[in-house]
Amino acid sequence: MKKIIDLISDEMKNAFEQAGYARELGKVTLSNRPDLCEYQCNGAMAGAKQYKKAPIMIANDVAARLSDSSVFERAEAVAPGFLNLTLRNEFVGEYIKNMRADKKYGLEEVQNPAKIVIDYGGPNVAKPLHVGHLRSAIIGESVKRIARYMGHQVVGDIHLGDWGQPMGLIMNELKARRPELVYFDEAFTGEYPAEPPFTIVELEEIYPFASKRAKEDESYKADAMACTYKLQSGVRGYRALWNHIIAVSVADLKQNYERLNVDFDLWNGESAVHDRIPQMVDAMKEGGYAYFSEGALVVDVREETDTKEVPPCMILKSDGAALYNTTDLATIQMRMEVEQPDRMIYVVDKRQELYFEQVFRCARKTRLVQEDTELKFLGFGTMNGKDGKPFKTREGGVMRLESLIKEINNEMLYKIKESRETTDEEAAATAQVVGLAALKYGDLSNQASKDYIFDIDRFTSSEGDTGPYILYTIVRIKSILAKYAENGGDVASVQNGIKAPVNDSEKQLMMALAKYNASVEAACEEYAPHKICAYIYELANAFNHFYHETKILAEEDESKKAGWIALLMLTRDVLETAIDLLGFSAPERM
Ligand code: ARG
Repeated sequence: MKKIIDLISDEMKNAFEQAGYARELGKVTLSNRPDLCEYQCNGAMAGAKQYKKAPIMIANDVAARLSDSSVFERAEAVAPGFLNLTLRNEFVGEYIKNMRADKKYGLEEVQNPAKIVIDYGGPNVAKPLHVGHLRSAIIGESVKRIARYMGHQVVGDIHLGDWGQPMGLIMNELKARRPELVYFDEAFTGEYPAEPPFTIVELEEIYPFASKRAKEDESYKADAMACTYKLQSGVRGYRALWNHIIAVSVADLKQNYERLNVDFDLWNGESAVHDRIPQMVDAMKEGGYAYFSEGALVVDVREETDTKEVPPCMILKSDGAALYNTTDLATIQMRMEVEQPDRMIYVVDKRQELYFEQVFRCARKTRLVQEDTELKFLGFGTMNGKDGKPFKTREGGVMRLESLIKEINNEMLYKIKESRETTDEEAAATAQVVGLAALKYGDLSNQASKDYIFDIDRFTSSEGDTGPYILYTIVRIKSILAKYAENGGDVASVQNGIKAPVNDSEKQLMMALAKYNASVEAACEEYAPHKICAYIYELANAFNHFYHETKILAEEDESKKAGWIALLMLTRDVLETAIDLLGFSAPERM
């Protein structure tokens, strides 16, 4: 379906043309004086010079052509030359009726779908997820869902940190504690046990312990590095042990991400590209791109237009070891081979922006990607505590994701129990659904690149621009629909019975609904889930206003009532589709 703003502009453009002026002048925008009109057109002002006429004369000419318009109830020329516009109720009603009949509520899928890989999540094996990984997961998941809904072909890749120094640290510490484990017996040629020799809890204790000790003890650190080397060069026992680490850790990660309603198509890790690094490096050398500088192998990525220093991209350290860069580059190469994407999007902390600039430039320069492959860095800001500093636990440590979720769920549970009678079981289940909405909406309603303050009171409030407010609105609609059905109304049969609005709040609700296609499209093009949040917040406000102004169920005119019920169903469906794009859902009751 055409966007409502385009239909309105078309009508205006026709009027400009019929009055003898250029079509382009008929661009319509939302009114910046909603007290006077709904939309406005400033084309007469813009055309004054070209036609050597006072703007008001042009505006009058155009307004005269619109006197019997099927779009505008009123098109008024006002000094010095604005056109103030109010839509016809029938036009708005018709648009909403068509929206109801359309599979995606008037949204048209893109004409040329792109193949997109989104790299998000980025957790590190054997380390607990923390709040830094939360933003990547929440934003990446939403960007993925929006792009998919628009018709793109999207693959989400978690890009696990599973190959570097932390692996060696864990193995080395395990060896110190349990040297008898068969994995460390390099003469062993039999089959390794299928059961892992540790649990996730043990793993998560071992890593920080080893990491701390390595910082204090040089020879311990050297041993750990030797373990990393053994793993990466393929020593059997180390590989077998590593497989256990991955399996135990991934099982735990899957649970955590599932709780967040986040899922990945690919669980590739940095390790997946290990074997392709040597040939990639050779090609970079042979192509004349990579050279040695102070022992390290680097690729120059400066560009003439740079205003700041962009350091060379390091491919191999002076000891020949691969780096974070190297795996990211080899991953790009692998994706180009396997997925052949038109675009790769990285949802990563914005503090890694320069790093990705280097990686992208290097990938282009060394021809790992095609000329028209787009590499997009979607950097997000920091989640801060109320003191404006990066969010920490009360003790000052990094907040584990699990604790954060628990905190928000507890707060929700408390609020739910306070507000109504329920069983403990139902309250707990509802708190989980609403808690996730509070967390995700609190994050996504901010522009991704900005820092924001994690404010549990505000996020869990049922009033204002919050997830729970949106869910309350949905639940309210559901309960009206349920009552209508209880009173003998047939919800399914009235579904298509949307009529022209009969009062202003109903019209406002319809006009808010009508912005659906434009909002989702903009959110996709700009990688901006916050635009969907802004849309549903406006829609929820418009609905609640309508609800307070209108006695829906008490209405005696059955056909009028049926029209409202149909409008409610559409509002519910649109809201539920939109929150699904954000990655959360609504309960039946709250
Ligand atoms: N594992 C990294 C971290 O915890 C994030 C990975 C981001 N993605 C990437 N392709 N480098 O900081």
